[in-house]
Amino acid sequence: MNILAIESSCDETSCSIVAEGVKEIRTVTSSSADLHLKTGGVVPEVAARKQVEFIVPVLKECLEGFDPLKDIDALAVTVGPGLIGSLLVGVEAAKTLSVMWEKPIIPVNHLVGHIYANFIGTNNLPEFPLVALVVSGGHTDLVYIRDHGDFEYLGGTLDDAVGEAFDKTARLLGLSPYLGGPGLSKLASTSDGGSLRNTFPRPMMQSDDYDFSFSGLKTYVRSLVQKGDHNIQDVAHEFEAACCEVLIEKTKKAVQNKNAKTVLLGGGVAANSQLRAGLLQMGEALGIATHIPQLKYCGDTAAYIASAAYFNRLTKPLGEIKADPGLSIMDIYP
Ligand code: KG4
Ligand code: ZN
Repeated sequence: MNILAIESSCDETSCSIVAEGVKEIRTVTSSSADLHLKTGGVVPEVAARKQVEFIVPVLKECLEGFDPLKDIDALAVTVGPGLIGSLLVGVEAAKTLSVMWEKPIIPVNHLVGHIYANFIGTNNLPEFPLVALVVSGGHTDLVYIRDHGDFEYLGGTLDDAVGEAFDKTARLLGLSPYLGGPGLSKLASTSDGGSLRNTFPRPMMQSDDYDFSFSGLKTYVRSLVQKGDHNIQDVAHEFEAACCEVLIEKTKKAVQNKNAKTVLLGGGVAANSQLRAGLLQMGEALGIATHIPQLKYCGDTAAYIASAAYFNRLTKPLGEIKADPGLSIMDIYP
């Protein structure tokens, strides 16, 4: 079964053809990231206009050499969460193709897509039941998954998402806040924490739930920067260490309490090398399978949207498919 997926939730316009949910046949992605780099963050209106500009050329390039009527069995599209103007472009394009080609359409939650970054491009599929840690610019969620489509939300951030905290802290340290995570992480790798080593708070690490809070860490950094007594490499190192330790500790608790067979990571922050290494170490210590997405599947791409659609196949009538910017990870089939 070949699925043509469209992902347009933010500043990437991505189309992908995937066979049997795991084999990526072709992906074409255009991004308006360069423009947002200049403004220090995504301007929703600009991102939406770029989606309109990119969607047809990206689709055309992705479909070159294919006969959609014969080669495509179904369409999939991200319906949320995301920026409404951006989402609408992908959703309306998918609905139009679905009518033209008389193919079914599968709506996909973007965060569920991030989880399926661990199912695409591999023969080693994660086994259930599993605990997923989803870390992105807008969400930080722990989810228990019994099987495809059988999700239990365990907890998430009460304030900033971890990616957002990285971006805001990058700004405080004088780095570009647009996708500040990679920049902050690079700076952190040049230090061992120095005199600040292990002095940062670990917010909610011992709380009796699966929730997180990252905005206090950002405030902690602000006060250190204002005092000006420490170099920014040490601050970056300790900020990253505190975020990763809290994420790993809470994930460990979820895995143990739920008796999960597998743990997996997804989302833009899954590209963070400390978090990847820490989670692998945790999995090894607990003796459970640990899945970390390939780096090319950490950022936004239609490839794992197709995978999520294949494994959670639930087509909906066109009239019921809507773009919804505020979906939670539990709204799998909106
Ligand atoms: O999943 P994503 O591409 O977009 C959303 O769906 O939100 O995640 C983007 C987030 C940004 O906050 C970015 O700074 C963060 O992921 N990020 C990182 C790293 N690479 C990307 N954060 C920490 N370390 C990284 N290496
Ligand atoms: Zn994302």
